[in-house]
Amino acid sequence: VDIDELDTPAVIVDLDVMEKNLTRLATYCREHNLNLRPHTKTHKIPALACMQLEHGAIGITVAKVGEAEVMAACGINDILVAYPIVTPEKALRLAALAERTQISISLDSTEAAEVLSKRAREQGVNFSLLVEVDIGFHRCGVSDEKAAVTLAKTIANLKNVHFSGIMFYPGHMLVKPESQSALLRPVNESLDRTLSALDRAGLSARVVSGGSTPTAYRSREFHGVTEVRPGMYLFNDRNMLGAEVARVSDCALSVLVTVVSNAVSGRAIIDGGSKTFSSDRFLSGDGTGFGLIEEDPQTTFEAMSEEHGHLNVSRSERRYRIGERIRIIPNHVCTTVNMHHQVYGVRGNRVEVVWEVAAQGKLQ
Ligand SMILES: Cc1ncc(COP(=O)(O)O)c(C=O)c1O
Repeated sequence: VDIDELDTPAVIVDLDVMEKNLTRLATYCREHNLNLRPHTKTHKIPALACMQLEHGAIGITVAKVGEAEVMAACGINDILVAYPIVTPEKALRLAALAERTQISISLDSTEAAEVLSKRAREQGVNFSLLVEVDIGFHRCGVSDEKAAVTLAKTIANLKNVHFSGIMFYPGHMLVKPESQSALLRPVNESLDRTLSALDRAGLSARVVSGGSTPTAYRSREFHGVTEVRPGMYLFNDRNMLGAEVARVSDCALSVLVTVVSNAVSGRAIIDGGSKTFSSDRFLSGDGTGFGLIEEDPQTTFEAMSEEHGHLNVSRSERRYRIGERIRIIPNHVCTTVNMHHQVYGVRGNRVEVVWEVAAQGKLQ
């Protein structure tokens, strides 16, 4: 099938670009002795997770138990749930998975440790637990080394769980590389304090799990880090362009849309709005717009209804004809993919593969 034969809106992945991204980060991690554990929330597609493992990833990361179940069912046998699991139901589902899959979980509370220990014991399995440390993003994570040691000790005293190290997420470093350096210093100070306090307490961290896409190629600068969990590196998106950690030629994923109306002066309307792109904002840029129109940056993707994308074409030379198709790089690839049942892998103009987004909508 040719791209021109696909109905729209459709999520398109340029396989050459994706394979280049896949290889480049795998090579970086190998060269710097870092384990790669990609976050598969970005694509939610088991075949892509397998491709990442074939390129040297040691396992995968997920946020949701439902994602872990989909990936485990496809034979992936080493999964980190980088999300606090605090309810008996979710702990039980993970314990069931742990019968055939190595399951690690990050957490920042005694409550989470206790519920995981209880369910693991009932099921006769073991979990590896990572204490999440807040290194500046202020989302989750214990706030200092004392709290990290206390939680690690709690874990060490519970049955069927063991303390294997720490986890952190530098989500506040979605900024240009020159601004990242100033943020890196306090992150490393926090890591140094935490790792040495754990050492002193006799609870050394075997695993130090960090990483993100904006910081992917400076992962080795994070003190003590043993593994990284980038997700978006595979595709990149407009937020990665805004942070200047990717170029347009590194963006593998775009949404193919059709112009459905040009009746209003200065406007072209496309057949994708918030139900196609998600409403995630341009966080690394000026906050405006919902995607980049690669072939015509003068045109801005200004607003969205659910099923209408509003393009402001008033500054463009180009005339947008009804039925014409264009490609748009979304603000945030992860939330865009989660809106779609299928993703089309293309090489040049040929559709080479169609992937089901098997973990789409797995929110529980
Ligand atoms: C805990 C955690 N680890 C890893 C990632 C992946 O990082 P990125 O989205 O920068 O690829 C995320 C993304 O939100 C995350 O929340």
